[in-house]
Amino acid sequence: MRRQPDSRFVGSGPLHPVPSVGRYAHEITGLQRLVLEAKPCCSPQQNDSQSIICRGSAAFPCLPVTFGTRWTIEWADNNGSTGYRNGQRVNEDADTKDWADRGREREEMTDESPHQQLDGMITGYWVSQAIYAAAKLGIADQLADGPRSVAELADASAADADALYRLLRALASKGIFVESESRRFSLTPLAELLRSDAAGSKRALALMSGDEQFRSWAEIEYSIRTGKIAFEKVYGKPIFDYLGENPDKARIFDAAMVGIHGRESDAILRAYDFSGIAVLADIGGGNGSQISRILQERTAMEGILFDLPHVIARAKDQIEAAGLADRCELVSGNFFAAVPAGADAYMMRHIIHDWDDGKSLTILHNCYQAMSSSSKLLLVESVIPPGNEPFGGKFLDLVMLLIPGGKERTADEYRTLLGKAGFELTRTVATGSEVSIMEARKR
Ligand SMILES: C[S@@+](CC[C@H](N)C(=O)[O-])C[C@H]1O[C@@H](n2cnc3c(N)ncnc32)[C@H](O)[C@@H]1O
Repeated sequence: MRRQPDSRFVGSGPLHPVPSVGRYAHEITGLQRLVLEAKPCCSPQQNDSQSIICRGSAAFPCLPVTFGTRWTIEWADNNGSTGYRNGQRVNEDADTKDWADRGREREEMTDESPHQQLDGMITGYWVSQAIYAAAKLGIADQLADGPRSVAELADASAADADALYRLLRALASKGIFVESESRRFSLTPLAELLRSDAAGSKRALALMSGDEQFRSWAEIEYSIRTGKIAFEKVYGKPIFDYLGENPDKARIFDAAMVGIHGRESDAILRAYDFSGIAVLADIGGGNGSQISRILQERTAMEGILFDLPHVIARAKDQIEAAGLADRCELVSGNFFAAVPAGADAYMMRHIIHDWDDGKSLTILHNCYQAMSSSSKLLLVESVIPPGNEPFGGKFLDLVMLLIPGGKERTADEYRTLLGKAGFELTRTVATGSEVSIMEARKR
């Protein structure tokens, strides 16, 4: 594909592989500047990004970027009028628009043949299960103080040294751990994120994905044929009952939610104006990481964290540690029975997607009952866009089918669901992440 010198493209999304961006840059006539911002794989710091700027040249170094990295590319014409300024994305709209473009760009940017692409997709679980094994053995935690030999790691994690070596060698080929000298391994930026204490740690997510979720995915044919819930076929009960009976798994689930959705809190804070909301209720707020983040930013606001009793019992320490015990009320209950009254806004992030329409309507009805005529309902979800373009929510939708029995929905489906519950969708706010905030009020 060729673009005119004065054309401009900004996109962000999963990109794999990156090296051919260099080749792509060659094809842009009159390139004046090209910026690639890659995060978070290039750095263990959540907010860091690595930007490479090429001026008037096609030279373009490769970055250690892997599938799932968020990226932004921009190029501008020779007068630089559409430049990349102050390290910020110039145009948030451009950043969130054109999912279709992203899909095309991604296809065009890969050097892999269709055979290679499909091979990678078919065997993708090799990598995810290898990550699971390393997470389960706590290898990244053991490397926190520096490189260690495989023999030491095997001793510390009750593993077979040779098998562990093969695991780490395979992961090192993906940039997760590095063999620094013979059979001694150390952390890489990707491996850092598998440490239990890393900011935005992915360890719990790897544990949850590789265990209950993986076993449920093995039953995907059952779910597709019957429309029923694979998790319940495997474990004999609904996921949230299972978590209530297995505190260790529930702790992992809470942390995994932070691992997968935690970064959305900052995007939500940037995108949504919380002015006028004196009391915010986070319904199904899990371990309280989101309400904590919002209350830390909005210091005059008070919060209500509502979730199941065993979840709230665990969240207490976190809320206290965040110094928010006096501003955040902890309320336990069941949102199929009732939710607490008295808030100016009721936020539910990744809640409605867990449930089918009937159960979702019950939750929405209970919010309706708790809300005053002026309070707002804020649904935070991955709203499925039309078309064939890549969008993480399309696979999250399969997770919803297989595990809790819910679904990701389109904008129209949310509007209809809200309408049936007596709400009017007043606006949808893009956050620059995969989630949007749907604001609704009582009709
Ligand atoms: C997918 S998690 C989302 C957590 C959090 N909102 C976030 O975005 O990370 C769903 C949450 O709903 C809670 N939940 C499930 N069933 C519930 C019920 N019947 N009543 C209240 N909370 C419930 C779970 O405990 C869990 O914290």
